Amino acid sequence: MQLFNFISGLSALACLNLVNAVPVQEEFSHLSKRCDFDSATAPDCWGDYSLSTNWYDEAPNTGVVREYWLELTNSTAAPDGVDRMVLSVNGSVPGPTIFADWGDTVVVHVHNGLENNGTSIHWHGIRQNYTNEADGVASITQCPAAPGETITYRWRATQYGTTWYHSHFALQAQNGVVGGVVINGPATAPYDEDKGIVFLTDWFHQTSDSLYAQASSSGPPTPPNGLINGTNTYEDGGSRLTTTFEAGKRYRLRLVNGAMDNHFKFSIDNHTLTVIASDLVPIVPYQTETVALGIGQRYDVIVEANQTPGNYWMRSIPQLTCGSNGNTLDIKGIINYDTVELADPTTSMWQYTDDCNDESLSNLVPYVAIDAEVASVEEVMDVGLSTVEGFFKWTINSNTFLSDWAEPTLQKVFNPDATYRADENIVTLNETNEWVYLVIESQLGLPHPIHLHGHDFLILGQQAMATYENSSSLNLVNPPRRDVAMLPASGYLAIGFKSDNPGVWLAHCHIGWHTSQGLALQLIERASEIASTVNQDDLDNTCQAWTTYATANAIVQDDSGV
Ligand code: C2O
Repeated sequence: MQLFNFISGLSALACLNLVNAVPVQEEFSHLSKRCDFDSATAPDCWGDYSLSTNWYDEAPNTGVVREYWLELTNSTAAPDGVDRMVLSVNGSVPGPTIFADWGDTVVVHVHNGLENNGTSIHWHGIRQNYTNEADGVASITQCPAAPGETITYRWRATQYGTTWYHSHFALQAQNGVVGGVVINGPATAPYDEDKGIVFLTDWFHQTSDSLYAQASSSGPPTPPNGLINGTNTYEDGGSRLTTTFEAGKRYRLRLVNGAMDNHFKFSIDNHTLTVIASDLVPIVPYQTETVALGIGQRYDVIVEANQTPGNYWMRSIPQLTCGSNGNTLDIKGIINYDTVELADPTTSMWQYTDDCNDESLSNLVPYVAIDAEVASVEEVMDVGLSTVEGFFKWTINSNTFLSDWAEPTLQKVFNPDATYRADENIVTLNETNEWVYLVIESQLGLPHPIHLHGHDFLILGQQAMATYENSSSLNLVNPPRRDVAMLPASGYLAIGFKSDNPGVWLAHCHIGWHTSQGLALQLIERASEIASTVNQDDLDNTCQAWTTYATANAIVQDDSGV
């Protein structure tokens, strides 16, 4: 069935097909040029552009528009054999992968066919340079799209590699409104076949909404299971993802951690991984046995089918240092060499240390080197936890983030009379193309995956059990660059970026519960230039439809707004 082609090569089980699958748009099935290597092997592939192009300054413009239609619906599904209500995208969980080539324009029409639910779709890690209005964050860059409405997102693929899209409304993403994004471009190491997205999640047998009160009063519930590309076994039910290898070939896997609460280590028994990208940033390749993914992070890895033909486990192991899971050592798929009959593997896992650290910073060396410069702005802020009327609330910079679905910041910035509350947690950046350092510190023993919208950032410092002193300790020389990094337990994370993107950008912890419990802030960057990048009518229309719907149905916002 056509639907499964999105996951290019992974087995048909890879993507959960629901009963009421809608027909697939023609546009999903074509991929134009495909081009894996830099100029040495594919000289004409990217024209005047290559792996060495600094894509923050310039990128190809193919003139090609990739147009997609996503339909969100309530469905019932049993990805691991246990029935539950899910929110699906075009009838599947995860939804279809969006493909584009580097330099294309991507247009996605999202129809909200959900019951009693607003929505917005965020293109995680996409820089949205001068396209803030396409960032898809309810209460920040748009009002939620009301049920029955369609919203269109339009952005340029100036970066390339692997990312994902997810709802940025309530805890909808963790109910299934997620999918992969693959932008074809050059790679820092050769491979023979692209196996596409390998989507790792934890999985609950109840909806995230029904668990939210518990998560907020007695602590995060233990996910009973995890899924790989929307499937796994549980007790006697469910099934395994199966991926076929041909001996001697090299395969590219595009790993995504789309979990609510679990930090994963990914590995394939007996096979080493060559890591070629961290988030949307190609890196100098390095080899490893396991690769660690914080929530929201991606790694592109190449694995060579160089072992005795057989069946091998592919493993996604939740790290218990910063979370829990009811099926820790059994979130697995099968790598099956095509000359051998498919069977449950008997292989053993690589040794690993249970922790929630990022990959070692010394391994994450961006292929296009960028140094940080001395900052014009440095903000140092603390993360804290408090209890308000029996409910956990996180704070950052002393505030628990709260924005209003019906009043997105992007609309407020046009109103000269708008006032901002402290809990909107705004950092204003008026500087143009200057370096900004954000230092996030925590006294608490729990790490957090910190994500920034609108920028890749440089990791200037990252230390557990330490206090930030001053910028003289930071590394400014081609530091790792990405869009999610771990704030270590009782330590600090220092990130730097250039103020080169007018807009309103969210920064938050990507643990679903924590985003909802207020661990977020927003940057208003170069406010005076924002208006010229936005179609205010679109913004107003979405808000009007939302307000009409919310008033008629007495909708109450019970989370941070993002
Ligand atoms: Cu992946 Cu604010 O999100």
